[in-house]
Amino acid sequence: MNDIQQQTSFDLSNRKRLRFYDNQPAAEDILSEVISGLSQNQKVLPAKLFYDHIGSKLFEAITQLPEYYPTRIEINLLRKHHKEIADLLDNDVWLLEYGSGASLKIRLLLQAIKPNCYVPMDISKDFLLSSSESLIDDYPWLNVYAACVDYSQPVRLPADMATSAQKLGFFPGSSIGNFAPHEAQIFLQGVRKTLGKDGAMLIGVDLIKDTQVLEAAYNDCQGVTAAFNLNILHNINSVLGTQLNADHFEHRAIYSEEKNRIEMHLVSLMDQIVNISDANVTDSPAKNIILKAGESIHTENSYKYSKQSFTDLVEGAGFEVREHWSDEKDYFSLFYLSCC
Ligand code: AVI
Repeated sequence: MNDIQQQTSFDLSNRKRLRFYDNQPAAEDILSEVISGLSQNQKVLPAKLFYDHIGSKLFEAITQLPEYYPTRIEINLLRKHHKEIADLLDNDVWLLEYGSGASLKIRLLLQAIKPNCYVPMDISKDFLLSSSESLIDDYPWLNVYAACVDYSQPVRLPADMATSAQKLGFFPGSSIGNFAPHEAQIFLQGVRKTLGKDGAMLIGVDLIKDTQVLEAAYNDCQGVTAAFNLNILHNINSVLGTQLNADHFEHRAIYSEEKNRIEMHLVSLMDQIVNISDANVTDSPAKNIILKAGESIHTENSYKYSKQSFTDLVEGAGFEVREHWSDEKDYFSLFYLSCC
């Protein structure tokens, strides 16, 4: 449980409208997740480790790529439907964003919804801080209570965030697809609790489509997605002081029609042994991981849904679909859910 309550919050300089709650995962938790993931038969790494400062920048670059359609379509849907979204809400609203990154899409909603408070949640601390500061500067009426958390774990809001305002959760970009469907349902049940009975959720969903379109989106010509995938190794090196060599791996992304998901892997280019321990801590747990040439580390899944399969998923988590909007090719959908 991400009990944000127990963390310090501080007003930055004298800007009372900005609070920052720091719940960044500790290096020892990351070490045990990395060791346990790399000890499995199919080696895995947690996708949240993509998002250090460089990874967040690379992800921003991915969203601009010609092959990566989700962001462009979602922005168009938000531009087209933000007034309808605002009309579905009460006057007094708090807006909570899960995985806020550079907080760009939120700007399309802020003006339309005029929430009292915006609560961005993200694991990338400096990204979160700088985007929160620019929002404070650009929206003089807005309170920003930013929380640096691993939002994939249940989040309990601090007592000083208690409010009778309606809560709107915003989870754009089809990040819901980065959870396996059963994990997505558990995640949404947690969100449902946080939002309360009058809450609502706006969520972006990437739809099942032609394999070629999907595979191109994760294998771009400029190699930005490859750099993003390989950067997970640099991030682990910088947190744990390990010596993983990104030149010894290559990026692979394939679509499984059976599982309706893009799978990203890092494929070892040679037989190698990598030592995983926290070099910054004496007596840290350590493990030698053996990788054979051609063996892969599975770094990310990106599940795709039909409108019906996504509706079934959210209904199982205590939400009801009030509205949904899609582009003309039915590549991507924006769902507005109410808590029931
Ligand atoms: C953040 N998430 C929704 C992206 C996706 O499409 O699954 C992450 C990503 N991985 C490779 N490209 C983009």
